[in-house]
Amino acid sequence: MKSVWVLQGPNLNLLGMREPERYGRVTLAEVQARLDEIAPSLGASLTHHQDNSEGGLVDCVHRAWRAGAHGVVINPGAYTHTSVALRDALLGTALPFVEVHVSNVFARESFRHHSYLSDVAAGVIVGCGTVGYELALRALLARLMPA
Ligand code: DQA
Repeated sequence: MKSVWVLQGPNLNLLGMREPERYGRVTLAEVQARLDEIAPSLGASLTHHQDNSEGGLVDCVHRAWRAGAHGVVINPGAYTHTSVALRDALLGTALPFVEVHVSNVFARESFRHHSYLSDVAAGVIVGCGTVGYELALRALLARLMPA
């Protein structure tokens, strides 16, 4: 069984209510429930965290590593585009991770086109809506358990 931490950055607690035309109407609780539903059949156990602060997310990465997590699915929200600290936490722990964005960041403002994480991620899922979390979990597990 692989231990995967699913980390959500700032404002993702508002998923389903925030700009629904962009992010959809599925709430964070529903995303987490769906992932929990499929995880056992994929051979994974999940730990969910959401944090609105940069340091809080860095602490979550450290906690995941100390707890012996095998990998991380992360939507870093706006910190994607700003956070060297989060990049360093993921590099420093060497946890394999898949980066998720619900919206297609490349079809949005140019400041969202750059990610501090993508070049060191195991994979990136962009613009697939909240289904992207499920795709990311499957992709991470395929990486952790090659056929
Ligand atoms: C996001 C994209 C980011 O640019 C934005 O700041 C978010 C959500 C996404 O899931 O599409 O908060 O990560």
